[in-house]
Amino acid sequence: MSNPLFDLQHDHLQHLQNAYAEKLAREGFDSLAIYSGHADAFFADDHAPAFQSYGHFMHWVGMADIQRSWVIITPGQKPALLLHAPNDFWHLTTVLPDEPWVEAFDITLCPEPPLPQMTGRAAAIGDIERLSDEQRQALGAEAMPEGLIKALDELRMTKTDYEVACLREANRLAMAGHHAAKAAFIGASAELDIQLAYLGASRQRESKVPYQNIIGLNGHAGVLHYQHYDLTSPPQRHSLLVDAGHRFRGYCSDITRTHVGPDAPETFAALVVAMHGLKDELVRAIAPGVDYLALHDTMHRRLADILVSFDLYLDSAESAVEQGVTRAFCPHGLGHSLGLQVHDVAGLRTPEGEPKPAPAQHPALRLTRTFAPGMVVTIEPGLYFIPMLLAPLKERGVAINWPRVDALINCGGIRIEDNVLVTESGFENLTP
Ligand code: GLY
Ligand code: MN
Ligand code: MN
Repeated sequence: MSNPLFDLQHDHLQHLQNAYAEKLAREGFDSLAIYSGHADAFFADDHAPAFQSYGHFMHWVGMADIQRSWVIITPGQKPALLLHAPNDFWHLTTVLPDEPWVEAFDITLCPEPPLPQMTGRAAAIGDIERLSDEQRQALGAEAMPEGLIKALDELRMTKTDYEVACLREANRLAMAGHHAAKAAFIGASAELDIQLAYLGASRQRESKVPYQNIIGLNGHAGVLHYQHYDLTSPPQRHSLLVDAGHRFRGYCSDITRTHVGPDAPETFAALVVAMHGLKDELVRAIAPGVDYLALHDTMHRRLADILVSFDLYLDSAESAVEQGVTRAFCPHGLGHSLGLQVHDVAGLRTPEGEPKPAPAQHPALRLTRTFAPGMVVTIEPGLYFIPMLLAPLKERGVAINWPRVDALINCGGIRIEDNVLVTESGFENLTP
């Protein structure tokens, strides 16, 4: 079976083989055991929560829900996959997909949870804290060596063509859900119905989404990680914020759209247009060598311009940034690296693995890197009306046009989020 994606996956696995061999040699290891992880049952129960395999395990295997399994990397040999496949008549038996990538592995189907016994100088990474002391001892490997983890994290920062193809497809699949969510909002649905419309149209069950979908009507659009779905539709519809993605072969999309309801003031509709423009401007600025932190600062300066031009702030744009006004209207960072995890690894380090933390004034920023070809990031400017964050501005007597801001509180806020690849010459927006 050959198709372009499988050909790309073949090259991806070859790239991992070479890169792992080089990194293991540099860190002085003969071999590496990567644990998928597993979910334990709830306390005093026999049901377990939804699970996501360890990122470095998925980097090889590309399946997000494999548990109690191992990938063993020994340079010069085929990677080995010890796949837990219990003889269990309660559940569907684990079967490998009929795809060419399985040929790249020596695969053992294990009825009992496998435990490799490593020889030579070996490393083991993953959530092995969950194994018993005896199991960790029997493994015979150095657990979670920091230098190796950093090097493998760094490898995930630059996506292969295969990974980009997966991220592009994850975006396409999510968009079907976003269109259905918008239609459900126009039809005056409740949050739960919008969520179900999203899941149905994007063909995924709730336990498989890459992160809990955020479906916020009205004021809930101003709760950054709003975690409920109201069962009833509110009598007035000001706004809907949908932050929802999809996984494709392990890779995540992370897309946000904000929609204007029939009861919103005109200013809100115009602000949504302005925020789309800001998102597009920030995306267009992406190119190798540009600093993500500088782009985050640009977001704050442009937010200040928007606050001034919409008469929401009655002083200069410069003072809006200096006085922390824009931070109260947008308390999160511009975005993050995206890949096998929604908030992907190595965002706050240099390529050499040195810490590069977020500045003290922007503690929520998850990415401080300089763009290089192959990175995939989110660009997600936001503008929110969060009473908890606006109250201190009022106390300080900051020059906010309170009647205009108060008229927007019921709209909650706006976030527009796309997923963007850094290319050799600039960028490619992966979000259709
Ligand atoms: N969906 C979480 C985020 O946008 O970072
Ligand atoms: Mn998001
Ligand atoms: Mn995001």
